[in-house]
Amino acid sequence: MKGVVLAGGTGSRLFPLTKITNKHLLPIYDRPMIYYPIQILVDAGIQEILIVTGGRNSGDFLRLLANGRQFGLKHINYTYQEGEGGIADALALAEHFADGQKVCVVLGDNIIEGNIKDAADTFRKQADGAHILLKEVQDAERFGVAEVSGDRIVGIEEKPSKPKSNYAVTGIYMYDASVFDKIKTLVPSGRGELEITDVNNAYIREGTMSFSYLDGWWTDAGTFDSLLRATNLVAQSAPKPTDEEKAVTV
Ligand code: DAU
Repeated sequence: MKGVVLAGGTGSRLFPLTKITNKHLLPIYDRPMIYYPIQILVDAGIQEILIVTGGRNSGDFLRLLANGRQFGLKHINYTYQEGEGGIADALALAEHFADGQKVCVVLGDNIIEGNIKDAADTFRKQADGAHILLKEVQDAERFGVAEVSGDRIVGIEEKPSKPKSNYAVTGIYMYDASVFDKIKTLVPSGRGELEITDVNNAYIREGTMSFSYLDGWWTDAGTFDSLLRATNLVAQSAPKPTDEEKAVTV
């Protein structure tokens, strides 16, 4: 399975922080935001990774990440999204890179405490279809929200004013190669974007969508509040210096 990090879009909800840089280059505690989704993929045993960027500052990703040595990678692939046609529009650019293999997609502003290794291993064995990770939240109306019935997802609504559950669809998606044909059938939503929720609902209608619940905390970082929350969560989870390390610092 290959990995894709989606780091396009304009980050307009973080303006003016994003006036002179891309949202995914902003700091979350001690690292740039883009480090976290890349690490999620690497921790899931994925070595072939494509970064989809966009906007005026896309060259900075290459300067920051180069060939990914800081993640133990030998090479990173890059591509460029014109405009901000939505998450599914950005993913469509990965068709050539995927080359018929399954893909694990992580949104560039999603940060997790744990890892997705078990879900990735299970999906590697799933014959076809898709797999998403859900997380219980208090502010479900900000996200794609899954309606769950027993061991099935019945449907997903994007940012519903009256959510049918508290289960947010996190920005970590696993797809078989048919995802690219599904994207080609989409039409732009009310906000003018090709929605990843429409892709997921296509798999649900087909009966090939599986899901699991994400362990540990999860947050996005695309608003001022969630950016602060992400920084605080990462800082609280960072390993504390040992007494020996503290002595060296003094
Ligand atoms: O974080 C999880 C949520 O992400 C899901 O629950 C929602 O179903 C999904 O639609 C998405 O919601 P947002 O409205 O928060 O997505 P946002 O527009 O902030 O985009 C998230 C990331 O996707 C962003 O950091 C970069 C990438 N992206 C987005 C757009 C619109 C692109 O690469 N290109 C784009 O055109």
